[in-house]
Amino acid sequence: MDKKAFDNFFKPYSKNVDNANKHGFWKLSDALIIQIIKDNIPTNIDENVVILDAGGGTGRWICDLSKIYKSKFVIFDRSIDMLKKARENIINANIENRVKLVEGDLKMMKSLKSESIDYIISIYSPISFIYEKEKAFSELFRVLKRGGKIIIMGHGFYNAIASKINNYCADTKELEVLDNEQIVKWGEHVPQLNVFSKEIIENDLRRAGFSLGKTYGVPVFTQPGLEDFDPENKKKSIISSALEKEDFFNKVFKLEMKYNSQPTIVNRGMNIFTVATKK
Ligand SMILES: C[S@@+](CC[C@H](N)C(=O)[O-])C[C@H]1O[C@@H](n2cnc3c(N)ncnc32)[C@H](O)[C@@H]1O
Repeated sequence: MDKKAFDNFFKPYSKNVDNANKHGFWKLSDALIIQIIKDNIPTNIDENVVILDAGGGTGRWICDLSKIYKSKFVIFDRSIDMLKKARENIINANIENRVKLVEGDLKMMKSLKSESIDYIISIYSPISFIYEKEKAFSELFRVLKRGGKIIIMGHGFYNAIASKINNYCADTKELEVLDNEQIVKWGEHVPQLNVFSKEIIENDLRRAGFSLGKTYGVPVFTQPGLEDFDPENKKKSIISSALEKEDFFNKVFKLEMKYNSQPTIVNRGMNIFTVATKK
């Protein structure tokens, strides 16, 4: 995607994204992500360990993870507007001394040395925005230390088909492109996104040199309402309202975690979240 189109999309996005998790669906999705990270990155890592958030945006994950991990963090992102917000967020969280912000493209991470990172996380699908995705996968492999681990999310392929059929009654041409090219377009002003099945993302990682761990769907049962994509986060879906009830939220969370890495269930995921290591 050219830089101008990229910036035009992420400038307004950077202003609202930090409020997104005030609604139930996103609270649930975020809670699942944190749980999966805690299950795969030991919470007792020491302060010299470096966690890279690839496409880390406004740094909201690093602000949360800095309360769990003593480590250092790098937020790497292509959007100057997202990074501007990240700077504000890390100052407010008082973690400037533990976080480095790096502007750059995941396809060519020149400013990061080879084998300099212990863990990589990449959440809400930066890789879906990258059309030469194999370059990004191999750069992520390069910067990771031997024995290091990546947990990376891509936008779900089968969920995109289901949503285009059920929520949009999409025309046949659009469904054909989605099926043949694994590319989805959610709206006029939203960039085209690569979509991933469990098999596609695992293949991409394997091809870059990674050894595979678990793959999760996030979420696998809970379906967002169209209101959950309101860019201003003002509208609220039925499911988001229902998830405000604590016992319902907790039960849904448990069901999601119970089944979300079962190979026959993963591809239900709105997002596909894969763990891999560099041996
Ligand atoms: C949907 S946002 C997610 C942001 C953050 N991970 C989160 O969960 O809030 C996708 C992020 O990927 C970044 N991104 C997309 N393409 C990129 C690229 N080629 N290089 C670096 N960052 C990229 C965007 O700037 C944006 O911050």
